[in-house]
Amino acid sequence: MDAISVIRTKRDRGRLSDAQIDWIVDAYTRGEVADEQMSALAMAILLNGMEREEIARWTAAMIASGERMDFSSLTRPTADKHSTGGVGDKITLPLAPLVAACGAAVPQLSGRGLGHTGGTLDKLESIPGWRAHLSNEEMLDVLGEAGCVICAAGEGLAPADRKLYALRDVTGTVEAIPLIASSIMSKKIAEGTDSLVLDVKVGSGAFMKNLDDARELARTMVGLGTDHGVRTVALLTDMSTPLGLTAGNALEVRESLEVLAGGGPADVVELTLALAREMLDAAGLPDADPAKALADGSAMDHWRRMIAAQGGDPDAPLPVARERHTVYAETSGVLTRLDAYAVGLAAWRLGAGRARKEDPVQAGAGVELHAKPGDRVTAGAPLLTLHTDTPERFDYALEALTGDAIEITEDASYEPTPLILDRIA
Ligand code: URA
Repeated sequence: MDAISVIRTKRDRGRLSDAQIDWIVDAYTRGEVADEQMSALAMAILLNGMEREEIARWTAAMIASGERMDFSSLTRPTADKHSTGGVGDKITLPLAPLVAACGAAVPQLSGRGLGHTGGTLDKLESIPGWRAHLSNEEMLDVLGEAGCVICAAGEGLAPADRKLYALRDVTGTVEAIPLIASSIMSKKIAEGTDSLVLDVKVGSGAFMKNLDDARELARTMVGLGTDHGVRTVALLTDMSTPLGLTAGNALEVRESLEVLAGGGPADVVELTLALAREMLDAAGLPDADPAKALADGSAMDHWRRMIAAQGGDPDAPLPVARERHTVYAETSGVLTRLDAYAVGLAAWRLGAGRARKEDPVQAGAGVELHAKPGDRVTAGAPLLTLHTDTPERFDYALEALTGDAIEITEDASYEPTPLILDRIA
């Protein structure tokens, strides 16, 4: 087998054979196939697509490139959630302890932010002492102690994806549905969860800008999960505006704590509860009541146990940025647009995100919203506040919020987009 013939097959719109897929994924992981050859193949896949059987085989080859985790020693059913990424998407933080409080075990392997979308690990690292990197034994210990764990995936999990994702990131080949689906699902299947709920984001702040593409991605991932014996359901949810009122690491932890304390913004609570119900259903616990677990403090109790078991101090004050700059409404009317991508980009430019994998992030940086689409605002009222330790970044961040990022009109018929757009099982 050789890489050039595999590239030519896909370049000429052919179907890759099982042997071609197994060989190229394995040879690339071992360093026998060069990055430039894999980039050419990734671009051919982006342009010419893959059939369902090809995606299934590609996913299986990525799983086989590394280890599989084993949670069979746990007495509770395991449930996991994956979001395709958005702005202000802090849902994993309240969701994992909430679902644990309702009786499932939640092993949540999470990632860091790259570009305008935030990463769960970066958010949690703003809690003094909290550790993202755990051995498999430590992960099981935290799960036993708190019922949930949120940590970084070990090096051994789907190493083919680790390499390929970094390559796609710098070759304009992230947005290929077969590659996104196989990337996400290979890690989730290798992780060994019994059930999985996917939050597929749609809109300007998401990979998938329109509903048709999001549906195709969701169907592909649900099919892959089901074929591998993982009970998988997807919700398609709106990402045209940020979730909640904050985008940025410590800012989002603070908002998650409000939700765990029984308050928090309505959209964050709605999505947390909807995903919790799906996870509990998929885990075989349909009678659990997540709203009660938020109200009675049991979800907060699991959060505190999880943070402490991972070295964090749940009572420590969260970092706050040194400088703030508030943007005020120029006119009165209804806020009809507060664009998710623009807010994510502004938060990133303020220091909440990183340009390269190895860059540090600022714990306190980000954007705080004072109004959401559908709210009536008056001229001179605060719309959003920028937070950073490096005030020389304010102008660059403000540039992201110009043009049509923010729109205030007198359009009385305006209805905000519903948060949950579809469900695919
Ligand atoms: N998240 C992943 O893990 N992989 C992708 O390809 C895209 C988003």
